[in-house]
Order: sequence, then structure tokens, then C-alpha cells
Amino acid sequence: MILVTGGAGFIGSNFVLDWLAQSNEPVINLDKLTYAGNLENLAALQGDMRHIFVQGDICDFDLVASLLQQYQPSAIVHFAAESHVDRSIHGPGEFMRANIDGTFTLLEAARGYWNTLEADDKANFRFHHVSTDEVYGSLQPDDAPFLETSVYQPNSPYSASKAASDHLVRAWHHTYGLPVTTSNCSNNYGPYHFPEKLIPLIIANALAGKQLPIYGDGQQIRDWLYVKDHCSAIRRILEAGRVGEVYNVGGWNEKPNIDIVNVIVGLLDELRPDPVGSYARLISYVTDRPGHDRRYAIDAQKIEHELGWRPAETFETGIRKTVEWYLSNQDWVANVTSGAYRNWLDQNYSDRL
Ligand code: NAD
Ligand code: DAU
Repeated sequence: MILVTGGAGFIGSNFVLDWLAQSNEPVINLDKLTYAGNLENLAALQGDMRHIFVQGDICDFDLVASLLQQYQPSAIVHFAAESHVDRSIHGPGEFMRANIDGTFTLLEAARGYWNTLEADDKANFRFHHVSTDEVYGSLQPDDAPFLETSVYQPNSPYSASKAASDHLVRAWHHTYGLPVTTSNCSNNYGPYHFPEKLIPLIIANALAGKQLPIYGDGQQIRDWLYVKDHCSAIRRILEAGRVGEVYNVGGWNEKPNIDIVNVIVGLLDELRPDPVGSYARLISYVTDRPGHDRRYAIDAQKIEHELGWRPAETFETGIRKTVEWYLSNQDWVANVTSGAYRNWLDQNYSDRL
């Protein structure tokens, strides 16, 4: 049995679905169900006894400790976090609580539980921390991609809180011997991606005939990875990753934002043509994100050489699957773009447009 935190969010739910499709090892899924958590993502597991969902907060030490005691998991895979950079600019407090206090509480509960295990179980136990490439800061156009040894230079409240959580995980290994691994991954995309993030926002807005907001000049570069490839990388690290190590995970796929938007527009023009004309007419340049990082790029050679992991999808195959998924799951989009979501759009975009 494994304990997953944040398993009702975008990446966590993909991870739980893939895990149970490939293994019979049950999952305890601890998720607070914030605005980003959605049990609809896990509808396919209804009635599946291998999935035990617990609504709760990773900051609740007693709850986490009792779950560990009751279910005796062999690993914790820690996704739970506040994850959206723009929200962290509007309200950083919750990011500090969930990402820093939450990781601290989880580490302390894990340490207490791990200390009670027999020698073999103790040696085999893993705490896997899911982190981001944003902790390394922003690259110049000619800089080499981020390595696991790159200096930490987080620039947003979100990335600073993730950097802090990475440091805690590292310290709990060095000081207490907790068997941890960490992955720092680039931008994910794919099914169940909440439409506050660039790719699902562009798809949802285009289909609704709304503007496609491009921050600044649209030349900021991200490395994009299909979410199922991130999940397979984490499974591989759990299987064979070295204790105490950090693995950078990426798609070898750097692209400026405006190119991403143009690819989506092209796919929508092909798959769901709008009689009014190309969706490109909706592209709209808006005020930039404060402190916007210019470029991220991941050197994922370590995980490839040590663990034999490489992404299975190219951007072309992954983005087509993604657009097709959104076209086939318009009910999911309608359900998540509720009243609270519209309030967020007002807060984030009304001053920009
Ligand atoms: P998400 O925002 O879609 O989901 C986060 C989940 O965590 C939600 O289900 C939410 O309810 C839950 N959660 C939040 N606070 C909680 C708390 N205090 N207790 C319990 N549950 C809580 O995020 P995501 O995009 O799926 O990201 C998952 C993890 O991967 C995060 O740690 C993020 O930093 C990291 N990451 C994300 C990306 C990306 O591109 N999305 C890339 C690299 C790393
Ligand atoms: O790099 C990994 C990170 O990727 C993760 O750690 C974060 O959790 C995840 O949210 C993502 O962060 P970004 O800030 O890169 O993702 P986002 O989808 O918000 O934005 C991607 C790029 O698109 C970024 O340069 C900002 C830009 N953008 C975003 C939105 C929402 C726009 O131009 N317009 C928009 O409306």
C-alpha cells in the first residue's frame, strides 16, 4: 500500500489512475479537496476497493500519523500543494501553509512512523517529494538547462515555497536518515488539468469564444511534459531511484508560449472548426505576470542514464491527445468552471485585458 497526498489534483489523479491500472498495490489518497482537487477525476475508481480516499489536510499531524499507523504504507508520494503561480502572487499565505508547513508536518509524521518499522520495512520505505523546475529560477536564452546541481533561485511566492519544501525534505534525509527521493519536473499538460493553467485555459476559452490571454510578449519559454510521462518517471524513481537523490524530469521540449497557443489553435481549427473563423482571431496580448520567469529548461539526462526513463510522448502526440480529451470531456470542464472559477478569472484578468 502507498499513501498519495494531493491525489485528487491534476497530476496526483493521473498518478493514482495509472498506478492502479498497472499494479494491485492499494492507494490511500489524502486530499483536502481545495478548489483544485476534484473527485470527478477519480470517477473511474468508484467501487474499487484498492482506492481509499480520505478528505483531509496534510497540515493535520494527528490525521496523517493515524493514517500511517492504520495502513502501514511502504511509500508516501507527496503531490499535495498549492500549485498556481498567479494565485501565489494574489495570495501567498496559503502557499506557505500548504507547501511549507504541510511538507514539514508530513515529514514529521513520516519520521515518527518510519522509526517504528522493522529493519527491512525501514530500509525499503520511501518518501517521494514531487517538486518543480521553478525552484532553479529563470534562464537566459543561451544558458544550459537546469541540472540537479543548479543553484536554487526561486522568483515567485509559489516557487519559493516549493524550494523551502525541497530543503526540508533534504534535511530530513541528512539529519534523520529518512529515505527520501525528490523529482523536479517541468510544466505538465494532459487530462484533468485545471483550466487556470495556460494549456487548458486556452482550450476552454477558445471553445467558449473568449479571448486567449498571452502574458507580455508571449516569448517566455517552458519545457512541456505529458502528465502520464511524469507519472511514469515517479513510478520509476520509486522502483529504482537512489535514496537521497534528486532527479530532474522534463520533456526535452522547450517552446515559447505563443507557439504553444498557436499549436492548440491549429488543432482546434482542425478538430472543431468555428464557422466564424480561425480561433487565432481570439489571441490577445495582455499585461505580463509580475516577476515572470523568462525561460525554464530541464536537463533530464540523470534519470535517463541511471533509471532508463525517457518520455514516451512527443509534444505533437501529447498535445493532440490533450485537445481531443478536452473536446470529449466538455462536461468535466463545465463542472470545474463553476462560480468560484469565474471569480478567479475576474481577479486575475480584469486588470489585464
Ligand atoms: P493541483 O493544484 O492540480 O493539485 C493539488 C492537489 O493538492 C489538489 O487536489 C488539492 O486539493 C490538494 N491539496 C492542496 N493543499 C492541500 C493540503 N493542505 N492538504 C491536502 N491536500 C491538499 O496541482 P498539480 O498541478 O497536480 O501539482 C501537483 C504537484 O506537482 C505539486 O506539488 C506541484 O508543485 C508539482 N508540480 C506541478 C507541475 C505542473 O506542471 N502542474 C510541474 C512540476 C511539479
Ligand atoms: O514549471 C513547472 C510549473 O509549471 C509547475 O511547478 C506549476 O505548478 C505549474 O503551474 C506551471 O507553472 P507556470 O507558471 O509555468 O504555468 P502556467 O500554466 O500558469 O503558465 C505557463 C506559461 O504561460 C507562463 O509563462 C505564463 C503564461 N500564461 C499563463 C496563463 C495562465 C499566459 O501567457 N497566459 C495565461 O493566461
